[in-house]
Amino acid sequence: MMVGSAPATKFEILTKELASKIDTIITNNENDSSKLVGILLEIQDIIPKQYIPMEVAAYVSEKMDIHLSRVYDVISFYAALSASPRAEYVVQMCDSVVCKVTGNNSLKDALQEYIGAGVNEVSADGKFALEYTPCFGACDIAPAIRVNGKVYGNLTSNDKIKAVLDRCK
Ligand code: FES
Repeated sequence: MMVGSAPATKFEILTKELASKIDTIITNNENDSSKLVGILLEIQDIIPKQYIPMEVAAYVSEKMDIHLSRVYDVISFYAALSASPRAEYVVQMCDSVVCKVTGNNSLKDALQEYIGAGVNEVSADGKFALEYTPCFGACDIAPAIRVNGKVYGNLTSNDKIKAVLDRCK
């Protein structure tokens, strides 16, 4: 298994720099296996195309002394985690009731039109993926979206939504 100390090649995702960032995330979470979901979400946020590559899952498994099958169980159980590449920018909308009554439907329509893809789809240029996710703590600034882990709230007009996504281009 190629982990950590292997020499970097242009094909390798798990560079020394990424391994170091993953080490920091694990340390900041006290190497606590009960925080595995949050740790994987943080790691996913720093990997292009927002996913957990196989070699990264193996690295986390070894570093945290958690069986690899458990790491994969978590990745496949949580919709917010992915084992395969998604898009450069993953745009998430909350599907909780609170947000649904505060304008998430018009938000969805505007996002679909701007991105040119439906929910659980990726835009033709591979730039954006659109998906629903459970509450991400932005209830007080709904309607809100999360783009690669960063929250944008009070998106009460199409212009505001467009301004957020224009920053990704
Ligand atoms: S209920 Fe939607 S972000 Fe919390």
